[in-house]
Amino acid sequence: MRAHEAGALHGQAGDRGPAWLRTPADPNELVPQLWSSSVEKVDGVLTVAGESVLALAEQFGTPTYVIDEDDFRARARAFRDAFPDADVYYAAKAFLCTAAARWIDEEGLNIDVCSGGELAVALRAGFPAERIGLHGNNKSVAELRRALEAGVGRIIIDSVEEIDRLAGLTAELGVTAGVMVRVTAGVEAHTHEYISTSHEDQKFGFSITGGDAYDAVRRIIAVPGLKLLGLHSHIGSQIFVTDGFEVAARRVLRLHAQIAHELGVVLPELDLGGGFGIAYTTQDDPSTPADLARGMLAIIDEECAALGIAVPQLSIEPGRAIAGPSTFTLYEVGTTKSVALDGGASRRYVSVDGGMSDNIRPALYSADYSCTLASRSSDAPPVLSRVVGKHCESGDIVVKDEYLPGDVAAGDLLAVPGTGAYCRSLASTYNHVPRAAVVAVRGGEARMVLRRETEDDLFALDVG
Ligand code: LLP
Repeated sequence: MRAHEAGALHGQAGDRGPAWLRTPADPNELVPQLWSSSVEKVDGVLTVAGESVLALAEQFGTPTYVIDEDDFRARARAFRDAFPDADVYYAAKAFLCTAAARWIDEEGLNIDVCSGGELAVALRAGFPAERIGLHGNNKSVAELRRALEAGVGRIIIDSVEEIDRLAGLTAELGVTAGVMVRVTAGVEAHTHEYISTSHEDQKFGFSITGGDAYDAVRRIIAVPGLKLLGLHSHIGSQIFVTDGFEVAARRVLRLHAQIAHELGVVLPELDLGGGFGIAYTTQDDPSTPADLARGMLAIIDEECAALGIAVPQLSIEPGRAIAGPSTFTLYEVGTTKSVALDGGASRRYVSVDGGMSDNIRPALYSADYSCTLASRSSDAPPVLSRVVGKHCESGDIVVKDEYLPGDVAAGDLLAVPGTGAYCRSLASTYNHVPRAAVVAVRGGEARMVLRRETEDDLFALDVG
């Protein structure tokens, strides 16, 4: 299409947000379910675990990801407690550093990694290898070798080549590998296409309906160095309705029973993956781990009874639901602008000192976030605002629609909740903006767990 003069089509009315967004009576007030448990406002200033954002910005600069460590730990524990007989693997792709790996270890969870790099960080943190599971649709021979040498507890197989690679490596190293088979249950997860992983036309897993999963199982049980632990299904991410999990669980259990009946192999385990949604805005209404457990365990018990099979040992892999709500990103406002739209409307743009390099999710998945003025309270009436970053892209949006006090100005701090999962882990240095620091706060003490990158870090890579 040729460029043309922009008209009304290029934006919804600037003074009306999406239908779910309500004008707040007081824009200074927090919506509690969007924030970690120890966040509150004290004299108008946002605090976390007793530490004020003014002090955090002063000490660590902005933008900074601020983790409420006790909240992160409590969410990990909540999954352990809700699934006492299951193995809970924290999906490290959501967020990983050695400190986080230690929290997960101390709270008694296992860890799921999906690359050699994540494996290296978990091992560097001293995470026990036998409680690590290795994922990935294209694990290299080097990654598999490292996992076997370290003694990881399970490798989730995703391709025929991988079976052959593991057959060769286990023979060479003289080890036995615990493995699972990732299957595609053929379920529409009703989430963004890019984070949906169990419909047929995508790259993950062996199809159940096409018979590929059954064939993979037969191939694996013929390899002496492989010990097949069970089937694995992950249907997608940021899911709220449990019917997708239900259909997947039933289909996977039917295959599990078929393997027992036809091949005489009773697989001891079943992994149902992660994907449990969290609240980014008031439109999201997530389930608690206890609710999830009740629903999932009932389905599994019922289906196993119907199939006449013993209930396998269950594992789950929550990532976002542990890391996401524990963290907010602290930004400083640099510029503001009122842009005239058609029909006399206008849109208020508030630019902060980060953006798509520290949170790509709005640009990549059209994800919605919310935010609050964090450094002071304001009497100014709320104005529908769009918070944007500092990158050279008009899609560089941080919060698409939020009511902020009308006097937000340069030097104010803004905080965006729910940024603990898939923000730092997807961060880039786009526009040569160094990646932000990650700070953990606990009991009034703040400590940096991932240092802010500097220009020297960028130069260090530039060896030309
Ligand atoms: N298990 C497996 C096999 C996975 O592939 C994933 C996520 C998880 C567990 C954890 O899912 P969670 O509980 O965190 O939803 N970057 C996207 C999400 C990608 C998820 C990839 N796999 C986003 O920002 O929404």
